[in-house]
Amino acid sequence: MRLLVTGGLGFIGSNLVRWILQQHPDVELVNVDAETYAGNPANLADLLPHPRYRGVRADVADRATMRALFHDWHPEAVVHLAAESHVDRSLQDATPFLRTNVEGTQVLLDAARETGVGRFVYVSTDEVYGSLGPTGVFTETSPLAPRSPYAVSKAAGDLLAQAAYHTWRQPVIITRCSNNYGPYQYPEKFIPLVILNALEGQPIPLYGDGQQVRDWIHVEDHVRGLWPALTRGTPGRVYNLSARNEQPNRAVAETILALLGADPALLRTVRDRPGHDRRYALDPSRAEQELGFAPRIPWREGLRQTIAWYHQHTAWWRAIREREDYQNYYQQQYG
Ligand code: NAD
Ligand code: DAU
Repeated sequence: MRLLVTGGLGFIGSNLVRWILQQHPDVELVNVDAETYAGNPANLADLLPHPRYRGVRADVADRATMRALFHDWHPEAVVHLAAESHVDRSLQDATPFLRTNVEGTQVLLDAARETGVGRFVYVSTDEVYGSLGPTGVFTETSPLAPRSPYAVSKAAGDLLAQAAYHTWRQPVIITRCSNNYGPYQYPEKFIPLVILNALEGQPIPLYGDGQQVRDWIHVEDHVRGLWPALTRGTPGRVYNLSARNEQPNRAVAETILALLGADPALLRTVRDRPGHDRRYALDPSRAEQELGFAPRIPWREGLRQTIAWYHQHTAWWRAIREREDYQNYYQQQYG
């Protein structure tokens, strides 16, 4: 299979590329990635060069370049992950979110339609559903009610993908996954931030009362769900992916500190994220029944493995945390 992946130098994308090349010897893979601050060639450095992999540094919203690539290479399938992915950054400046997540998605859908791509997975997010109260879960029929610029841009991409199916019967499949954690996650995100600040004895910022709930899944389990969605998912259909693992933020941080044997006094309450979604929880029954989706990595075991990974890859994260752009962002966000 000739597979085009976008965003394959990011957190989930690099885990997906690694898994596919290891598990599926029949796949030839092209990875389109703009190498933004979050797209890190070091994420695939251990794997490359690889005879079935080609990296293309390009912007998915660049229509001429995407059309040329699709017409030249004729991918049979696409998994579209490239995005601006961090909610806090979307509150500072939504502009790149609209270009990449909305325009970029339409450009790829158009190029895929023109060249007859047989399967197109749009990697969406549970954030498109908005926020839950203390009870209930989102199913695929829950209304879309995104509440941050990031979530709105992902919902727009999700709806554009649905429109391509309804209008042209383009074989689009949408996955909506919950919060991922695991190796190669950029350290602006909560779990790597807690681990690394704890390792360096720095204060750990907890937004508001820390009782916001996220539904955590190990990135490898997400990747294992994307493959059957790509190969067996029904066109036009949406699949929620989650490990049914709801955790309040404060409890996540306290568990990590306990696993590290670090001082709980490092936790500091800081100003809440404006418009902070209170709770996410997803029902993955459809993916379980129709795709055989079955997450395998238990929460505490996954956290232990993740902590061990960051312990063993100090050069990877130090290089990021020492960069001027990371430090500027950190200063602007946390003061
Ligand atoms: P990430 O920020 O780690 O990686 C994003 C990648 O996209 C980077 O490699 C970046 O260089 C690339 N990219 C950004 N703009 C681009 C552009 N214009 N053209 C080409 N490449 C571009 O993100 P992630 O956490 O790996 O998320 C990947 C996808 O999964 C996103 O679509 C995100 O919305 C979705 N998602 C993430 C989670 C999560 O918990 N991280 C959960 C559900 C869904
Ligand atoms: O739910 C899926 C989404 O999960 C993805 O679509 C996004 O791409 C991904 O970034 C993630 O969004 P969140 O906003 O949930 O993730 P983040 O790691 O930024 O924050 C997790 C929770 O931790 C959230 O409630 C905010 C809180 N938090 C985060 C940071 C960075 C803090 O309390 N302190 C922090 O410093």
